[in-house]
Amino acid sequence: MTVPFDKAHISAVAEIERLCFSDPWSEKALSESLASPHSRFLVYLEGDSVVGYIGLYALSGEGSITNVATHPDYRRRGIGRALIEGAIAKGKTEGLEYITLEVRESNSPAISLYENCGFQVMGKRRNFYSNPREDAIIMNYFFDKDNKN
Ligand SMILES: CC(C)(COP(=O)(O)OP(=O)(O)OC[C@H]1O[C@@H](n2cnc3c(N)ncnc32)[C@H](O)[C@@H]1OP(=O)(O)O)[C@@H](O)C(=O)NCCC(=O)NCCS
Repeated sequence: MTVPFDKAHISAVAEIERLCFSDPWSEKALSESLASPHSRFLVYLEGDSVVGYIGLYALSGEGSITNVATHPDYRRRGIGRALIEGAIAKGKTEGLEYITLEVRESNSPAISLYENCGFQVMGKRRNFYSNPREDAIIMNYFFDKDNKN
């Protein structure tokens, strides 16, 4: 079940960050994201446990996905897809024009997930990532003008 990110989820999301990324967000950074009026983060709950999350900001018609991650023990069960679909549903409700994200060029599971959810490759940012240094692929999801898709 996908629900809005709440203070009670911070430590579990920070743990998922540590398990998934070489440069994880701290509890402080996650807590600050909650305070932003533009934050639309979601978590995926299995029972009472947080097993995935997505970082989404919405501002001036643009949605921006900062991260999506599923706990390593819960992958390939549709949780990543549910989180992306949750972000798209949120964007549609808010009348966004598009959602954009960056992804490491080598991250084929994530690129495949985004493509399956309707994102298109827009271009590249050279040396966008460090630890290790790598290019980012920019991908966008476009809502139609009537916001029906
Ligand atoms: C990318 C990630 C979020 C996918 O989460 P998930 O819950 O396993 O994804 P789902 O089960 O919903 O998979 C949906 C689709 O994504 C693609 N996908 C997911 N994992 C994949 C893998 N290991 N290899 C290839 N494609 C993959 C497939 O197209 C899959 O559809 P299918 O199962 O019908 O083939 C997860 O692998 C993860 O947390 N990775 C580490 C964090 C990360 O790199 N996040 C992206 C940062 S931009």
